[in-house]
Amino acid sequence: GRQGCQIDFENVSFAYEGASGDPVLKNINFTCLPGETIGIIGSTGSGKSSLVSLIPRFYDTSAGTIRVDGVDIGKLDPAKLRDQIAIVPQKSILFSGTIEENLRWGNEHATLDEIMQAAKMAEAHGFITSFPEGYETMLGQRGVNLSGGQKQRLSIARALVRKPDVLILDDCTSALDTTTETNIKESLKSFASGVTCLLIAQRITSVMDADKIIVMDDGEIVGIGTHETLMKSCRVYVEIFQS
Ligand code: GTP
Repeated sequence: GRQGCQIDFENVSFAYEGASGDPVLKNINFTCLPGETIGIIGSTGSGKSSLVSLIPRFYDTSAGTIRVDGVDIGKLDPAKLRDQIAIVPQKSILFSGTIEENLRWGNEHATLDEIMQAAKMAEAHGFITSFPEGYETMLGQRGVNLSGGQKQRLSIARALVRKPDVLILDDCTSALDTTTETNIKESLKSFASGVTCLLIAQRITSVMDADKIIVMDDGEIVGIGTHETLMKSCRVYVEIFQS
């Protein structure tokens, strides 16, 4: 079984190569303890996706250090690092094939039983089994048409099949109703021996029960704390809450 990792950002700045102007991330500092859920919220373009994309080293930092369990990720084997971390992207990437094949992608050794466990946690098992062909249902051009929310649940299930130490959900619950979203988060809490979870969201309700919430504005962290603390101390957070 896997355990959640600790993640530390220390004075991290980042600019996309060739991009002019201000860096996309400026002096980012935070710690995410093993098993914690961290919410990340902020207006569009504030740098949320860029921030999480640095953790599996999709990009390298321009300055500062990111540590996973105390080790500078620049010194870790990238393949091993990416094996520990699952990112569910904003836009679901499903291919033409069966649901089972789609969920197994990236983890070829997973058994059907493990795939079903993951689908149950992601609130996908119900709609999958409602199709006459269940997990054998074809997706893609000649297959069934899924709703945005169903696609999101399959993407989350695929990430869970990998039993990651760190699960990053990049604004991939936006098409889910609040009940489904809450049920998934409840399942995640009991998942393995505590995955570390970073959850980017647009809605305050998606992050308000996180252990900590990071508030991003224009590439900077303008608040870190619980919902209660931020409601008292962070203007940007209150503005998002009221919008
Ligand atoms: P939303 O996903 O819209 O909520 O935004 P976000 O908070 O996740 O911001 P994101 O990290 O996607 O973008 C931050 C800034 O980086 C924006 O100004 C983007 O235009 C810019 N940016 C994002 N991706 C790229 C990229 O691949 N190349 C370049 N040059 N700029 C990028």
